[in-house]
Amino acid sequence: MTDLTGFRRETQILHAGRDPKANHGVVNPPVYHCSTVLFDSVEALLETRRDRASGAYVGFTYGREGTETTRAFEDAVTLLEGGYRAVTTSCGLGAICAALTAFLSAGDHLLIVDSLYGPARAFCEDFLRKFGVEITYYRPTVSAGIEALFQPNTKVVYLESPGSLTFEMTDVPAITTLCRARGIKTIMDNTWASPVCFRPLEHGVDVSINAATKYISGHSDLMLGIAVCTEEAFIPVKKTASGSGYCGGPDDVYMALRGLRTLGLRMKRHQESALRVAQWLQQRPEVARVMYPALPDDPGHAIWKRDYDGASGLFGVVLNACTDTQFAAMLDHMDLFKLGYSWGGYESLVVPTYPSDLRSAVTWEAPGPSLRLHVGLEDPDDLIADLERGFNRLAAAT
Ligand SMILES: Cc1ncc(COP(=O)(O)O)c(C=O)c1O
Repeated sequence: MTDLTGFRRETQILHAGRDPKANHGVVNPPVYHCSTVLFDSVEALLETRRDRASGAYVGFTYGREGTETTRAFEDAVTLLEGGYRAVTTSCGLGAICAALTAFLSAGDHLLIVDSLYGPARAFCEDFLRKFGVEITYYRPTVSAGIEALFQPNTKVVYLESPGSLTFEMTDVPAITTLCRARGIKTIMDNTWASPVCFRPLEHGVDVSINAATKYISGHSDLMLGIAVCTEEAFIPVKKTASGSGYCGGPDDVYMALRGLRTLGLRMKRHQESALRVAQWLQQRPEVARVMYPALPDDPGHAIWKRDYDGASGLFGVVLNACTDTQFAAMLDHMDLFKLGYSWGGYESLVVPTYPSDLRSAVTWEAPGPSLRLHVGLEDPDDLIADLERGFNRLAAAT
């Protein structure tokens, strides 16, 4: 495989995790459909047992622990995020659960950002608490103030920046510097930015999670997660993911690797279009505020500018007061911003959001309903026209 260390990220995206020379000259790695792996001898089988026992995970023993296809995907994302090795999981939530359970035991304390992804919050509340983990939510803008929340039993700080639904920026290096000094592990959900716009491990994070379901795969046709780890974090996360059964399917892994090749191009277009749509929305009388750190007047803009190389196409919008009927009239009949969960695919999406249901460290204040837009790869003028028709329906429904 060509040594890619000196190349720029856009070039690395195209060449990482593939080695045509080792594969009959074929450009892309093969897809291994695999449960059973056969061994030539008892000694060969014992060698893989030693490999697992040492935590090396170099060889392949069983489909659940991955194949050459999985390794190709992991190597590619590891290179882009600057990690030691990565662990593939069946979905993004699986990567979050595996990383959290890798470092937490009964009696430990977990600090979590208040604006984390809703189902990850539910996992902490419904499972980690049940198994005796103490949990404190911190405000996303806490910065070095997090030190006041540390307890002697704090083992993990969990970050997501910008936050789900409300898009606050967190000062990642301010938090990781304090955590490193105390041996506290940090786990960050990097899905919004993808490796193109932010690389958490360069800012002191121990485990960076991407729901590859979103931008990495980019086509809304699969579920997959990946946790990129430092050398110290790799074995606990790998053992936990493998021991909990969080494995990715071979076709999904291959499709994610295929999607990855265009990630750089797609992210540029998402950002350009999202910025245009966000700035148009800021001028609308129906809009109270737009929550997108790439906007120069966003409260998180300075941190975003300092640490990030770009933005994605996902942001939040708070409307001025309107009735439920008006809100539904707008969202029910969009031509391009279709109603649906998820994001990160090529197409635009919208969902109504209810942040007050998912906040305990900060109080959500808004004059009207809120929504989340995913600005896809369509022509931004068509997207703006779609939103304009939506606002017309909202006004007509009075
Ligand atoms: C920020 C964020 N992280 C993680 C996930 C979970 O990914 P998956 O749906 O692949 O489990 C999502 C899904 O919407 C998400 O929005």
